[in-house]
Amino acid sequence: MKKRLMLTSILLMTGSSFLFASSDCGATKLSSYMKDIGGDMRVLSADIKSGDNAAAANKVTDLISHFEKSRNETPYKFKADSLQGDQLAEQKANFVKVIDDTVLALKNLEVALQSDNASDVRKWLGEISAQRNIGHGAFRVNC
Ligand code: HEM
Repeated sequence: MKKRLMLTSILLMTGSSFLFASSDCGATKLSSYMKDIGGDMRVLSADIKSGDNAAAANKVTDLISHFEKSRNETPYKFKADSLQGDQLAEQKANFVKVIDDTVLALKNLEVALQSDNASDVRKWLGEISAQRNIGHGAFRVNC
């Protein structure tokens, strides 16, 4: 009986430390901007599908503003990897570069939407999705 009680408390303790670990890494400002970006992208795709390119072009402005806020943040991965000094500065510069490339693709998408250029809209959506894969591959940690 005593053994079972001990086992239960150990399980409870490990369980709660997992909970703390995940809330620590999930509650960053960056992850909250990213959630907004995910929501913006869903609205933007729906606007394009329904043929409302003007509404989609307006959504691009929100996306750019969320990426600009993200640019000032540091991915949780850098903390998890204990990056410091030059290494941290180098990785932060790489992160900023991918954000800047994404913003550039968004500005091109906005022009394509405003001029109803369907093939360019496809091209820049593809580029944004490629930048997301690069950014998540390099800087996002699953926790
Ligand atoms: C349209 C493009 C993108 C979409 C839709 C997107 C969406 C998301 C979503 C939904 C999350 C999870 C947020 C959560 O629930 O905690 C996330 C996390 C993350 N994303 Fe993005 N993302 C995009 C582009 C990028 C780019 C370009 C970068 C890097 C330059 C990036 C870096 C990250 C990082 C580092 C995290 C983890 C959060 C953290 O470290 O605090 N994402 N993203």
